[in-house]
Amino acid sequence: MMSVKITINGRPVIAQEGITVLEASKQAGYDIPTLCHHPALSEFGACRLCVVEIKGMRNLPASCVTKISEGMEIQTESAAVVEARKTILELLLANHPSDCLTCQMSGNCKLQDYAYRYQVRNVSFCGETHNYPLDDSNPYIIRDNNKCILCGRCVRACAEIKGENILGFASRGFNTKITTALDKDFKDSDCVYCHTCVAVCPVGALRNKEMEGKARYWELEKKTVDCGLCENACKFDLNIKDGKVIGVSAKEGTPERFGQPCLKGRLAVNLKYNPDCPQKPLIKKDGEFVPVSWEEALGLDELISKMESFEK
Ligand code: FES
Repeated sequence: MMSVKITINGRPVIAQEGITVLEASKQAGYDIPTLCHHPALSEFGACRLCVVEIKGMRNLPASCVTKISEGMEIQTESAAVVEARKTILELLLANHPSDCLTCQMSGNCKLQDYAYRYQVRNVSFCGETHNYPLDDSNPYIIRDNNKCILCGRCVRACAEIKGENILGFASRGFNTKITTALDKDFKDSDCVYCHTCVAVCPVGALRNKEMEGKARYWELEKKTVDCGLCENACKFDLNIKDGKVIGVSAKEGTPERFGQPCLKGRLAVNLKYNPDCPQKPLIKKDGEFVPVSWEEALGLDELISKMESFEK
């Protein structure tokens, strides 16, 4: 691979030919904000938050989809860049619920982080806002389209990492939204609840239902564990509060590093580490769930007694 010489914020940098301005800046130690970009997913260039200033270019290009070239002079935090980013954040926040105080993702939300980083306090845009119904139709994922910033990470993750293609963009302009085929709830879609979309969502639009209301993000300690149910050896995060596992999350990252999480794996890890998970099968008796042996749950008890009476 050839190297090219560029300058970033006035500093000479040698980087590999063919990489993006975002990657070269990251390697040089500059943190460019991103929303739609994800290293495990295809390039998208939709949110424009990663814009930079490049000498000789008229507009501010998105660094995540712009390749470096010899002699490029890049500014990652110039006045024009900062102003553009603030405007983008204001536009996103103008149509975003302001319930950060109680949002489950507070402390783990990129929009919140960047609003703080660029000190976007007042939103000067106003107008119509969305009022989508909350989709909590299933036991595993909460989908809140009001919080969606249309970064498309979930759509690409579902298609490119899992090959499921459950999510897609629908409608146009202000009415653009991410939804399932025929706009069904997750419950009625073909979603396999793998949580890959939840792991890559940068805001609170797709959330792990199991964790809802259980802990603030900063109260959690994370511990990564292997699943071990199959050869994929996916990794999951144990969510630990006050020394106790209270839930399991799919780990964000590239499939090479963290595998391809699935529902079976996440439930199995939960069963193994979460003391609140039933450790025995439950059967409803007289209207109440009671723990029983595996033999009874699988109907083997009945089978064994039938065989015994047959042998007599
Ligand atoms: Fe580059 Fe969204 S991160 S356009």
